[in-house]
Amino acid sequence: MCIIVTGGAGFIGSHLVERLLEDGHEVVAIDSLWTGSTKNVKKFEENKNFRFIEHDVRHSLPNITGVTAIYHLACPASPDHFEESPIEILETCFVGTKNMLDFAVGCGARILIASTSEIYGDPKVIPQSENYWGNTNSFGPRSCYDEGKRITEALAYGYQRKHSLKVRIARIFNAYGPGMQLNDGRAVPNFIVAAMKGQPLTIYGDGSATRCFQFVTDCVAGLNALMNSEYSRPVNIGSDVETKVGEIAEMIVELVANKVGSATRAPVNHLPARQDDPYRRKPDIGLAKDVLEWKPVVNLREGLDVTVNWFLEKEQKSNGTNGTNGHI
Ligand SMILES: NC(=O)c1ccc[n+]([C@@H]2O[C@H](COP(=O)([O-])OP(=O)(O)OC[C@H]3O[C@@H](n4cnc5c(N)ncnc54)[C@H](O)[C@@H]3O)[C@@H](O)[C@H]2O)c1
Repeated sequence: MCIIVTGGAGFIGSHLVERLLEDGHEVVAIDSLWTGSTKNVKKFEENKNFRFIEHDVRHSLPNITGVTAIYHLACPASPDHFEESPIEILETCFVGTKNMLDFAVGCGARILIASTSEIYGDPKVIPQSENYWGNTNSFGPRSCYDEGKRITEALAYGYQRKHSLKVRIARIFNAYGPGMQLNDGRAVPNFIVAAMKGQPLTIYGDGSATRCFQFVTDCVAGLNALMNSEYSRPVNIGSDVETKVGEIAEMIVELVANKVGSATRAPVNHLPARQDDPYRRKPDIGLAKDVLEWKPVVNLREGLDVTVNWFLEKEQKSNGTNGTNGHI
């Protein structure tokens, strides 16, 4: 089977490519390298089943034959990008997704769309099940992403109905793990990098907001299970273990302090909560358990331990080679 992964040089995409290659598939990763990096896919270079195409999905795809499945992940996911590039993100969500759906129709492939918990906005219902319609702001700093992802779902639904396309929709909740960019702008890498440098960890709000963090291999297993299922409506893919952001910061400070043997613990700097940032976020994953027989298996401390080790190794390599200030 030839499988396309758009966003294949990104964080989740590169882990997905790894899993698909391990399973013996031929994989084509398509990525514009906007927020991803060829460093994430360098390790697959020697694999004859792997091909990388640098391409922006906002433009029509080059000819690729024999494609049976498409994982469409291409889209920035960090709030830093929402503020910098709202129009480009909206274009990626609409034009990019439309191009991939047209491509899927053309080659008769099934397609999985990476949607997000952000389509629930700042939820009024806890936990969020797939039947909850959300509480989003269409006119604010996060709207390009929240509404952009809502339109990807609406497009996917249109193609399913009009072209009988086999569409799978994964509503992904916060994922973390090795392979995130140091300057990514999301909570886990931000906290780890600050703790490694002994600098204050920045928390937006008082730290009582919650998230449910899933380790990236769990997320990839969920995407894989969904792609291979016959379920054609949206499915939440996430951990349902809710943790306060302040507690996650504490865990990371402790892990880093133990590993680097430093007695100094990085302090915490509180900034005002970001506008429209959800206060509580927790998925109901009953549907995924039922229809995919999937649930996350890596607990937070275990996953953070692996992630911190990866960041520390990267920093050591970077200092040992070119001293590039840890950029990976
Ligand atoms: N990581 C999470 O916690 C999370 C949560 C919910 C949803 N998601 C979704 O999962 C997907 C992957 O997220 P990620 O965390 O790996 O982010 P990421 O930024 O690491 O990866 C996204 C990849 O897409 C590429 N890309 C972006 N726009 C593109 C375009 N127009 N054309 C081609 N390539 C483009 C980037 O260069 C990058 O490699 C995204 O669609 C995101 O919305 C992620």
